[in-house]
Amino acid sequence: MVPNRLVITVSDPAALAMAAADRMVARIAANADRVAICLTGGSSPKTLYALLATDACRNRIPWDRVHWFIGDERFVEAQDPLNNMGAARRSFLDRCAPASNIHPIATDSADPDESARRYENELKSFYGADMLDPARPLFDMLLLGVGPDGHIASLFPGYPAIEETTRWVTGVPKAHVEPFVPRVTLTLPALNSCREMLFEVSGADKHAILTRVLAGENLPANRAQSSSETVWLVDEAALAGAAS
Ligand code: 6PG
Repeated sequence: MVPNRLVITVSDPAALAMAAADRMVARIAANADRVAICLTGGSSPKTLYALLATDACRNRIPWDRVHWFIGDERFVEAQDPLNNMGAARRSFLDRCAPASNIHPIATDSADPDESARRYENELKSFYGADMLDPARPLFDMLLLGVGPDGHIASLFPGYPAIEETTRWVTGVPKAHVEPFVPRVTLTLPALNSCREMLFEVSGADKHAILTRVLAGENLPANRAQSSSETVWLVDEAALAGAAS
């Protein structure tokens, strides 16, 4: 069950964001063509997103050829503070990326499943095929955080969505942790289709779940793995816990 991953420890959240930004810039540089990056929600990527908007980072990214997707969305209006892509837009995308390169999960559908179908169609059309080819990953880089129950994106432990093998995106009627709003999430086949999967794990409150993940427990976080490179960027507080 323990995936093949590289664990990199950094001192604090600022160093973690810097390391993530450097890896993102390198991933973009490695593909001279159109680049696809899948962002994540929650609080973990917020320092990184703010960093990407600074001149130092901003000038290192060829914005016109980078496309931005989101791994999961809370089924709330685009302007709602809980909306994951909304948070990324406010932090950096709206200032830096062409609007046509931003690919949010629409939440104005009748229900999360309808939104999931729409996003799956958008992903398939961007990818140019209905079937994922392991030799040609969907994303150049995919960011993830890990929840207190070991969930990733909105794939919660014990929920049917984690077992999905066909759909690329699915609706999740009820969340397992806060915020308790329905979700729309990419499934494991779509999340795992990336050249680099990059986890950001920071702070003492992540220590308990990080310990369980690194022990190889059967958790969604241990079922997410790129076929080429899976990296866990963790800071010292997450690794050592509050007692350090
Ligand atoms: C969401 C997520 C979710 C998140 C983890 C970690 O919509 O909440 O995308 O999977 O990444 O729960 O959340 P934190 O970064 O807030 O700890």
